[in-house]
Amino acid sequence: MKELKHVAIIMDGNGRWAKKRGMPRSFGHKRGSENLRKLSFYIFEQGIEVLSVFCFSTENFRRSQEEVDFLMNLFVEKFQNEFEEYKKKNIKVIFSGRREGLRQDVLEAMDAISEGTKDNTGGIFHLCLNYGGQYEVIDAMKKVVASGIDLDTLTPEEFMHYFYQDLPPIDFMIRTSGEKRLSNFMLYQASYAEFYFPDTYFPDFDSNEFDKALDVYYERDRRFGGIKEQ
Ligand code: IPE
Ligand code: IPE
Ligand code: MG
Repeated sequence: MKELKHVAIIMDGNGRWAKKRGMPRSFGHKRGSENLRKLSFYIFEQGIEVLSVFCFSTENFRRSQEEVDFLMNLFVEKFQNEFEEYKKKNIKVIFSGRREGLRQDVLEAMDAISEGTKDNTGGIFHLCLNYGGQYEVIDAMKKVVASGIDLDTLTPEEFMHYFYQDLPPIDFMIRTSGEKRLSNFMLYQASYAEFYFPDTYFPDFDSNEFDKALDVYYERDRRFGGIKEQ
């Protein structure tokens, strides 16, 4: 069967999901967060090793202070409340993004959940918070230069070891809500990913929707520049 190690999800459409119901955007974020909890467990049950999710982009600071504050509070609440559950389910929680610019209580909640789950082996839950793909490349480049390695020997695969987290490339990238763009998410790691853009808003993207996505993935023909599927 075709390899599927690393799934990435751009969780989009929380605001529109709420608006459709005459509710404030914050309600959509809350439901999106609850959905992520259930969906992540389901995805790891399918044997997927790495799940990367886009929680907050470096550009999302352009939103109103009220929305940014709501989201940051939601992250703290989520990491604290769900800590034990991820620990028990043997899932390792890790983060990517710039720490500068994040509130102290957010950083503390991130550190607590990643420290408490660091020895888990049943799946890697990779949360991208204050994350931008272009900054990740810049930050990796700085590390490469500081390491003093011979730049002429650097391969694309080796370069990835300098990213925020050392993860395999993305096999399958899903963006919910019908938008068809990457919005600066894991640009380098998505070089050979298959893309899937369901119209469903993220709070409604449940395990059934994920099964449909998997069907699409397994129908795809990945060639990696060659002629035959690998
Ligand atoms: C995604 O939903 C969540 C974040 C970006 C934090 P949006 O908030 O972007 O929802 P829409 O796109 O406005 O519907
Ligand atoms: C991307 O969604 C960021 C996250 C899902 C966290 P946005 O809603 O911020 O992206 P744009 O503004 O539509 O490109
Ligand atoms: Mg959006």
